[in-house]
Amino acid sequence: MSIPYTRIDRQILSELLEIVGARNLITDLEKMEHYSHDETSVEEYGHMPEVVLTPTTVEQVASIMKLASRYCIPVTPRGAGSGLSGGAIPLFGGIVLSLERMNQVLEIDEANLTVTAEAGIITNELNEQIKAKGLFFAGYPMSLETCFLGGNIAENAGGGKAVKYGVTGRYVLGMEVVTPQGEIVELGGKVTKDVSGYDLKQLYIGSEGTLGVITKATIRLLGKPQFASDLLVPFTTAQDAISVVPLVMKGGIIPTSIEFMDRSSLEMSCSYLNESLPLEGVGAMLLIELDGSDEAQVEHDLMAVGDLCIQQGAMEVYIAEDASNRERIWSVRRNIAEAIKVFSPVQSLEDVVVPIGSIPSVLPELKRLAEKYDVTIPCYGHAGDGNLHATIVKNPASSMESWHSIEPKILTELYAFIVGRLGGKISGEHGIGLKRRAYLKSLTPPAEYRLFEAVKKALDPAMIMNPGKIIW
Ligand code: LAC
Ligand code: ZN
Repeated sequence: MSIPYTRIDRQILSELLEIVGARNLITDLEKMEHYSHDETSVEEYGHMPEVVLTPTTVEQVASIMKLASRYCIPVTPRGAGSGLSGGAIPLFGGIVLSLERMNQVLEIDEANLTVTAEAGIITNELNEQIKAKGLFFAGYPMSLETCFLGGNIAENAGGGKAVKYGVTGRYVLGMEVVTPQGEIVELGGKVTKDVSGYDLKQLYIGSEGTLGVITKATIRLLGKPQFASDLLVPFTTAQDAISVVPLVMKGGIIPTSIEFMDRSSLEMSCSYLNESLPLEGVGAMLLIELDGSDEAQVEHDLMAVGDLCIQQGAMEVYIAEDASNRERIWSVRRNIAEAIKVFSPVQSLEDVVVPIGSIPSVLPELKRLAEKYDVTIPCYGHAGDGNLHATIVKNPASSMESWHSIEPKILTELYAFIVGRLGGKISGEHGIGLKRRAYLKSLTPPAEYRLFEAVKKALDPAMIMNPGKIIW
């Protein structure tokens, strides 16, 4: 698609300056570099913006969108840049609209169990503020130390607690959105049920900044569970470990998390963190968390799940009950993506999701692809959600040319298997962004894809809102 976007000239810059002020406008190339990429490869997907704006109010965001709409300038909203599908990359230049300066908690409403915060707040900071009130936001993206609430919503982030609590979207009650035309719209509110018209809020959740800018959200909170413990369960083979996952789910106990980590993922993360885990003879580990408000019940569930793992051939069941041991283990889990990136920077981090009963079928396919294309594919992820992060890693002995030729072939085969054979989807939480848009198009039935296009066209007819993402 070719759209005659307007380049940002001096006149436009001075109008933007008027809206946000000098402090919130960046044109320095060195400073803008940070905004030219996310956590995907800069070489493969990066693109420089023409200007970066860091507005401080929703009125400024609205004025920016009005201007962009008038001149036909692409606008790419950006959270913390921790995305993994190129969603925040300004593919056509234009404006990067960073929400980093809109980062306040506006209200903690204890009576209604909600928090209202601006989109640029760091997820963990939000967590800390509500924890002080004995409350709890169930979203737990692995990048929670850096990612923003707005980004979590725009990507409908999953993370480590989704088995029991579901993904981010389940907790979004209300939302303030600025449309591509610059109108400020309040969607939802503090109510927990709402069938008053089309569910536009849901449409924005996971829309990756392609339909508008999320500037504020009201999030449903829960009372903080008083007790939580983790089981770390090693198995001799990855297949044994993953095969236990559907059995745990069937047992009637709903763990908070069932995370899977294969040996090479564990090794890289331990080495990156200078941490050590007992890995002798281990092919993979499950990290299973249980939480609740009744200590005896949590203990009972812990034992029951541990026993099931032993029956299914676990080598050991380690229990981590105190906060520091639990954090040590979770830190190993949270840092796997970063560790693999450090050791193997040329890679494709995948995010396939399958119905949980099919999860044991994924690993043999990864093995087949690794052998066929002479690559390694370390694998870890949210096994209890059927969501695995297979990371296709370039063989260091092969050339970049060969990598560029095999990467799309591997992805095509992997996605065809996941979607066609297992009834899965190509992304469970990282999104389509720039990286997977061609695959989405080829794997989505045409009638459904036309609906995607119709929604985009209806809300953003000028195609200025994060163009080039999801559909194109
Ligand atoms: C994780 C990120 C990569 O689960 O989604 O670690
Ligand atoms: Zn993940």
